[in-house]
Amino acid sequence: MRKIYIFDTTLRDGEQSPGVNLNTREKVEIAMQLEKLGIDRMEAGFPAASPGDLAAVNAVARAVKNTTVIGLARSREQDIDAVKEALKGAQDPCIHIFLATSPIHRQHKLRMDKAQVLDTARSAIRYSRKLFDKVEFSLEDAGRTEYDFMVEMVKMAVQEGAKVVNIPDTVGYLTPYEYGSIFKHLKENVPDIEKVQLSAHCHNDLGMATANTLAAILNGADQIEGTINGIGERAGNTAIEEIAMALETRLEFFQAKTSLQLSEIARTSRLVSRLTGMVVPGNKAIVGANAFAHESGIHQDGMLKEKTTYEIMTPETIGLKESKLVLGKHSGRHAFRERLIELGYELSEEEVNLAFAKFKDLADKKKEVSDEDILALLEIELADTPEVFKLETLFVTYGNQAVPTAKVLMVKDDGQKIEEEAEGNGSVDAIYNAIDKASGEDVTLSDYSIQSVTHGKDALGEVHVILTQNEISVTGRGVSTDILEASARAYVDALNELIEKRKTYSNRVDYKS
Ligand code: KIV
Ligand code: ZN
Repeated sequence: MRKIYIFDTTLRDGEQSPGVNLNTREKVEIAMQLEKLGIDRMEAGFPAASPGDLAAVNAVARAVKNTTVIGLARSREQDIDAVKEALKGAQDPCIHIFLATSPIHRQHKLRMDKAQVLDTARSAIRYSRKLFDKVEFSLEDAGRTEYDFMVEMVKMAVQEGAKVVNIPDTVGYLTPYEYGSIFKHLKENVPDIEKVQLSAHCHNDLGMATANTLAAILNGADQIEGTINGIGERAGNTAIEEIAMALETRLEFFQAKTSLQLSEIARTSRLVSRLTGMVVPGNKAIVGANAFAHESGIHQDGMLKEKTTYEIMTPETIGLKESKLVLGKHSGRHAFRERLIELGYELSEEEVNLAFAKFKDLADKKKEVSDEDILALLEIELADTPEVFKLETLFVTYGNQAVPTAKVLMVKDDGQKIEEEAEGNGSVDAIYNAIDKASGEDVTLSDYSIQSVTHGKDALGEVHVILTQNEISVTGRGVSTDILEASARAYVDALNELIEKRKTYSNRVDYKS
């Protein structure tokens, strides 16, 4: 049975999703969870982009103990030096350098001929090898590169001592047959190819990223690259959970497996969704809310008779448990704490007290508190962005024949109380106008989404917003049994994040430049 190495790029390619902007604390939180998931290698960012990005990669490098931490660099010495600096303190550092190889990129982006691309990449790998034991080299847009030039580039990377050579389908253009054939061709035509690991990196523009990656595995890829929930540039990257479960479920067919702790998939997916603000669609394979739901009578009947009639994998495998509705307003701190431990949270006394107070508030409003409710509360409670603004009270008037108005009372971290009132096109708009006045911040609401945490009339509503100010964009999240309050809390959460981010933000370099 072959082992397939998993290279996670949620913190780099995933973070390139429009509207996603993770701060250092969030990156470290995701990195720690990726480590629990058993990822072999994780790409923590692109250190040359800005000092803030470099610091974030460094924080991940120092926090992670059992996973290789990787920094991305263009084929330039200053980028390579930045990765060296960022990976100080890493247990197992690795650099990932790339250069575009396709005719389109050579002509229009790089303005280099084949010989210049070959030389530039050779110098970059050579320079990297002086600083790093582990070097991965990527042929950006390999999917649209001539076969003979690809062979020449890979041959050079092998000779220069790269440990991994990555063959990205950067623009998600290829079909599984074509992508798999590239791996076969390289295996058959590059001398000493067994000295390197070949890696697959697919984008999902035509919805074929997972199929293409599996085709690469069938044709000899040793490593696959992807992100949690498939987030990433444009239509995203290969979703790691899909590859993991395809290999697990069809083990006999693929004859290959990963070392992932599959029971951590659901938790990892939820964390990435919460911190990136990218809501997972209900019908998303493996981690969507409906992935294990059975609606039609015929299916339900089949499931009751024998689960395998309609279920090819179990929700328990990815760490989903049936919610046990036992906690309510009479539950004590001890029972609450036990449930937290079952859910995988080992909290300090102070954190348990804070979470318990929130739980009691919720139990007053909601008859039964489910695991999902507790997780939603904890995720808000444990976030540690400094609260410059706190929403104290919210008052909304609405009638279908009247202009909605909202009044907010906000408290600043210096104790100042600010009350403001505003009108809007709807209740949420009125609330956001009032908060804008109170905070004095000029922001654009780039995205707003709302979902229910559980079912029923008294379910918690979870709101995600993306706010943009100049080049900075941040996400915010709010949870409440009332959707207007959840909307207000998400907005204030994002404002606090914005104020924090502004302190460290300096002009970022676009890695594709
Ligand atoms: O898609 C791509 O080509 C990339 C490279 C930087 C590896 O993300
Ligand atoms: Zn990519």
